[in-house]
Amino acid sequence: MPYVKEYYILISMSETLTYESQVAGTAGRSDAAITAAGLERRFGATVALAGLELAVERGEVYGFLGPNGAGKSTLIRILCTLLRPTGGTASVAGHDVVREPQAVRLKMGVALQDAALDERATGRELLELQAQLHGLGRADRRRRLSEVLDLVNLGGAVDRRIGGYSGGMKRRIDLAAALIHGPEVLFLDEPTTGLDPASREEVWAEVHRLNEELGLTVFLTTQYLEEADALADRIGIIRGGRLVVEGEPAVLKRLVSEDVIVIETEGHGPWLVEALRALDRVTEVTADRGTIVVKAQDSTATLLPLSAELSRANVHVRSLTLRTPTLDDVFRQCAAPQSDMTRACG
Ligand SMILES: Nc1ncnc2c1ncn2[C@@H]1O[C@H](COP(=O)(O)OP(=O)(O)O)[C@@H](O)[C@H]1O
Ligand SMILES: [Mg+2]
Repeated sequence: MPYVKEYYILISMSETLTYESQVAGTAGRSDAAITAAGLERRFGATVALAGLELAVERGEVYGFLGPNGAGKSTLIRILCTLLRPTGGTASVAGHDVVREPQAVRLKMGVALQDAALDERATGRELLELQAQLHGLGRADRRRRLSEVLDLVNLGGAVDRRIGGYSGGMKRRIDLAAALIHGPEVLFLDEPTTGLDPASREEVWAEVHRLNEELGLTVFLTTQYLEEADALADRIGIIRGGRLVVEGEPAVLKRLVSEDVIVIETEGHGPWLVEALRALDRVTEVTADRGTIVVKAQDSTATLLPLSAELSRANVHVRSLTLRTPTLDDVFRQCAAPQSDMTRACG
């Protein structure tokens, strides 16, 4: 039962994790829900975190966005006291993760990226076990179980074996287990990776509700810009163990606002290009033989007037593709030293 083992480690390792932080002092004092200062983690020659600075406010949903290998899980594991940093400091709910791991564990819940749930147990058994591991008495266990079950909306499935759960239900029972002791800060490591779109939206709805109804601070990692956009009050983009850009989703999106619409035609007059250029929100139009490339601030809003122009021009359109900014586009923008985005994030 690897899942249970992981939890057991969380609770039982507290005494063995005595570690003298070299830069201790700054992170623990903050009133923020999560802080990191110069946080570093090396695995041999690999630098997973390279001096990360972070401050997440209480009640905030923070989306930590980055590609595979960026250092997301490493950060989560440090913040939930499963892994020691090799440099710098971090705190959760005002407690230093290295010096006060026990206090951190009381204040936070975590759903890890690769939670391996015991398939033979029922959902209720899993929750009961987690509650016991957290030292809750019988009356508290009963109360918390019914509270978290109300929160994650599993219905009658709670008394069925986890082996029969859908991917989305497994994520939700894992979420319920993370909430059993009433944490203030919830860590979710790639909570929807591998889920179908419907289950993904269910998880999104849960996260919204937990944040709004309980005022829970949520720190989630994701590889999907769309997910960070849907959930987070603020997004931080991590690459190579460093925060490269941070801000509200709308602000970040404005910085990488160049949606691209590619139109393949059978041929068109030059005046069509002029007409497209004149449209609202269109920033650039280039044409090469039958291909017209339109850059726009908001491609979905541009589509209708653009189609109207094409039809007015009586142009035969072979294909029309729309490409919204990808994580790669954001990264490219961040990498350019003089880009707006780099300036925007200092
Ligand atoms: N236990 C480990 N031993 C060696 N290297 C590791 C270990 N954990 C993570 N890494 C390395 O650290 C980097 C960051 O990994 P990780 O935090 O898992 O990234 P992410 O979760 O963003 O995909 C990667 O290069 C990964 O190979
Ligand atoms: Mg990961």
